[in-house]
Amino acid sequence: MTDHILIERQDAVQIIRMNRPDKKNALTRAMYAKMSAALAEGDADPAVRVHVFLGVPGAFSAGNDLADFLAIATGGEGGNEVWDFLMALAKAEKPMVSGVDGIAVGIGTTLNLHCDLTFATPRTIFRTPFVDLGLVPEAGSSLIAPQILGRQGAFALLGLGEGFSAERAKAAGLIYEVVAEDSLEGAVLAAASEIAAKPPQALKIARDLMREPRQALIARIEVESEHFRQRLTSDEARAALTAFMTRKK
Ligand code: COA
Repeated sequence: MTDHILIERQDAVQIIRMNRPDKKNALTRAMYAKMSAALAEGDADPAVRVHVFLGVPGAFSAGNDLADFLAIATGGEGGNEVWDFLMALAKAEKPMVSGVDGIAVGIGTTLNLHCDLTFATPRTIFRTPFVDLGLVPEAGSSLIAPQILGRQGAFALLGLGEGFSAERAKAAGLIYEVVAEDSLEGAVLAAASEIAAKPPQALKIARDLMREPRQALIARIEVESEHFRQRLTSDEARAALTAFMTRKK
């Protein structure tokens, strides 16, 4: 099991910490698998009432490991870890809170669309360059982002790959609060503790009522995933992924 994902418990809060700083928290298949398992185990454990996602200073996540995507693009086997994690996010039964500092690319942005509260620091930029990579939106973002941002805001985020600063993300309703870097974890854990202290059954019903009917979200993720897998072996994606992996700094 990878130690690039650290799982901690603080009372009723399960903390899922992405911890691969040398690669800006780019997510490998093993990292996805460990996060999926943590969500399932936390959901099954009555002692856990809320999940928290954190990264490292300056990097929430640079998105999927592009070396893994390039391996698929050039004929390798991809596994199901990414898709299983997207489903685990959509199916998570307990509230999720995220704390984002700095880089938040691809799944580093779309993961937050599933969270109930997201805190971000002023230096955070949310960005989803799917189309520039020859790919398509994932994690249900093609469904959720237009609901939050409207069609044109979603196009800016998911089509143009425009960066959204934390301030812009807050104004647009993508995130809950902007907090200073040294206050981020404190703010996230305080919110998580507040959630954990609520009557859990009432909170679960309230949360389910506020969310997209799960079946619609799951169906969208399946359609996106089908396109995404096909796009991964397209000439457009192969060229973009090769360009990143062979770039000169
Ligand atoms: N996959 C694999 N490796 C990645 C990565 C990714 N998604 N993002 C960053 N890395 C690696 C870099 O290759 C570099 O590795 P090296 O030191 O062995 O050369 C290391 O992480 C540090 O990245 P670097 O680019 O030097 O940091 P930066 O601060 O200048 O830029 C980013 C950070 C995130 C803006 C830039 O790395 C980037 O654009 N990454 C790709 C993001 C992306 O497209 N994700 C997929 C979305 S679907």
